[in-house]
Amino acid sequence: MHSAPTALAPEWLAVPDDPDDLAEGVWPASAHRDAEGALVLGGAPVADLVRSYGTPLLVIDEGEVRRRAAALRDAFEAAASAHGTTARVYYAGKAFLSTVVARWMVEEGLNVDVCTGGELQVALAASVEPSRIGFHGNNKSVTELESAVEVGVGTIIIDSAIEIERLAAITARAGARVRVMLRVNSGVHAETHDFLATAHEDQKFGLPLADAEAVVARIREIPGLEFVGLHCHIGSQIFGVAGFRESASRVLDLHAVLLEDGPVPELNLGGGFGIAYTRVDDPAPVGELAEGIVTAVAEGCAARGIDVPALSFEPGRAIIGNAGVTLYEIGTIKDVVLENGARRYLSVDGGMSDNARTALYGAQYSARLASRAGDGEPVLSRVVGKHCESGDIVVDHEYLPADAAPGDLLAVPATGAYCAPLSSNYNHVPRPPIVSVLDGAARLIVRGETVADLLSRDAGIPESDSGADPTQTSEGER
Ligand code: LLP
Repeated sequence: MHSAPTALAPEWLAVPDDPDDLAEGVWPASAHRDAEGALVLGGAPVADLVRSYGTPLLVIDEGEVRRRAAALRDAFEAAASAHGTTARVYYAGKAFLSTVVARWMVEEGLNVDVCTGGELQVALAASVEPSRIGFHGNNKSVTELESAVEVGVGTIIIDSAIEIERLAAITARAGARVRVMLRVNSGVHAETHDFLATAHEDQKFGLPLADAEAVVARIREIPGLEFVGLHCHIGSQIFGVAGFRESASRVLDLHAVLLEDGPVPELNLGGGFGIAYTRVDDPAPVGELAEGIVTAVAEGCAARGIDVPALSFEPGRAIIGNAGVTLYEIGTIKDVVLENGARRYLSVDGGMSDNARTALYGAQYSARLASRAGDGEPVLSRVVGKHCESGDIVVDHEYLPADAAPGDLLAVPATGAYCAPLSSNYNHVPRPPIVSVLDGAARLIVRGETVADLLSRDAGIPESDSGADPTQTSEGER
């Protein structure tokens, strides 16, 4: 194998001078190598973490999560205050939710956005004050809506006309009144560096702007519903403010019309702020982002002669994504030599079951040797999992040191968002444990599954066998 650029490497991936370096912004700020070259996360040496919890292991840097949450809250509050309004930040729990993380959010002054009854239960189990919860979903069941009304969820984001009638009946039965927003579809779809504006978006969320006036009129007729404003979310992993600006402008046209018939005190512009998965991603600093978006809203309001509403935002990935690092053990290595170059396949002990994003979205990640620094030239490598599927790729393209070997630990950064939540038991692989690290101490925040957990759902096993020893695995055997 050789380190010369190969035709198999994508153009964006440069051959690194040092295949052990940790790209700033991709890794948690606490990540560094100790004197021996081993990776340390949140003050905890990865070898210690793996000794206690095994591999694969998802490590969440608590300090990084808290810092990013606080930075977003501060940035939006400051930008809003400069324009004479307020801003609230909701953490989008779909990116990664556990009771511990929900508590961190509350402690950092954030609210929590949930999109199913299950996520709602996690937030409630974490004692998140119901009034701080926003409840989303394009198909909330009657049972989910009933429990949201019963516990007094702060805002329900209505996603369809049918939901209005469901909520009318539920609030009438309960004698309750709930704050609601209406999710609209601004026709702006933003993906990474570009955005696309169309007349009608072909997707399931929200209502077209053109239908919203009549729908809001219906909401306002219902005594149990307090209409507080419009909600719009234009996509995820978005860089720049252009898409938000265009979307805000379209939504403000409707907002201004709705003001003619009653109060519209709030506006929620969703989440979607992009993060760095590899060194070529360059997200804007949160201060710039907040200032750009809030200024666009304020200018839009001034142009229409209306007050700036109270604003809210729902970032998920930008808070938790870069705080997560997945640790794997390298099992097998193969060199594949093709006509136009060579590629090394490093197989790890997890894969698409703990990170489906590469297979699902063609997402790009990076990787580094973790148990030690490497000692060899950079080799174009592909990190693959242990699943019975050729698309089971964790890191599509990365240069790793030539001496990477079976038994080495490999770390994949930026796995804090949408990896654990999208995980599966494909091939009956148990889901890995999740630990948080802070100041050198590790804390289990979600225990790993065992094969026994998986077998416990198999209704074909005779009762007397279900607790039998062969189904029990120790942490190390996961
Ligand atoms: N608010 C709403 C209404 C959303 O639908 C979403 C994401 C968010 C906020 C948070 O977006 P964020 O700030 O995390 O980008 N599984 C995909 C992402 C799906 C995002 C769904 N909605 C992925 O792994 O890239």
